[in-house]
Amino acid sequence: MSKQIAIDGPAGAGKSTIAKRVAADLSYIYIDTGAMYRSIGLYMLRNGIDIHDRDKVEIESENADVSLSYVDGNLHVFLNGEDVSNEIRKEEVGNAASVVSAYPLVRRNLTELQRRLAKKENVVMDGRDIGTCVLPDAFLKIYLTASPEVRGERRYRELMDKGESPDLDRIIEDIKKRDQADMNREISPLRKADDAVEVDSSDMTIDEVVNRIESLI
Ligand code: DC
Repeated sequence: MSKQIAIDGPAGAGKSTIAKRVAADLSYIYIDTGAMYRSIGLYMLRNGIDIHDRDKVEIESENADVSLSYVDGNLHVFLNGEDVSNEIRKEEVGNAASVVSAYPLVRRNLTELQRRLAKKENVVMDGRDIGTCVLPDAFLKIYLTASPEVRGERRYRELMDKGESPDLDRIIEDIKKRDQADMNREISPLRKADDAVEVDSSDMTIDEVVNRIESLI
């Protein structure tokens, strides 16, 4: 049977950086489930579909084929065969993903895809509901958090490095709003699984978080 590690937590906690490092150290496959929801969000934005119209989004989502594949050792995300790995990182796509991820059919289809992938290979999978819903039998579950202020500052620095001029207070507000939406939706809300280990990365370096997780393994 394949081995599974689940890493859940709020936006900006560093899940993908940490999950990638742990996966590389263990020679497991890294699976970014947020990228899948972002691809569905992008499909709706590109096709001018009102993301708040649940019925329409659910019907249209059946036409959005999402797949993951490794290119030169990096995980890439494809939407109907097109590599959208960069485009899905935009702020508006993340916000659209947060809205469409609340819809039952969208979640059902992506959950099935995620379980299929995890059956085939040893995986480190990150998201919001991996430990609670997608992979309840994962042998290690991590709930990775950091304060909204620390997460906001990390995002602020990333944007500065890209040459943008972000507004820190606005970023922190957006993070808090996203937390509210992800934690309070009806289906598979973000929450710590009962058997997950909580790791607060607010005052930890990336290496320290990776070491902590690997010591748990
Ligand atoms: O981790 P991220 O920022 O790329 O995720 C984008 C959105 O997708 C997030 O706001 C909530 C949703 N999501 C989800 O509902 N379930 C997951 N397993 C992963 C992401």
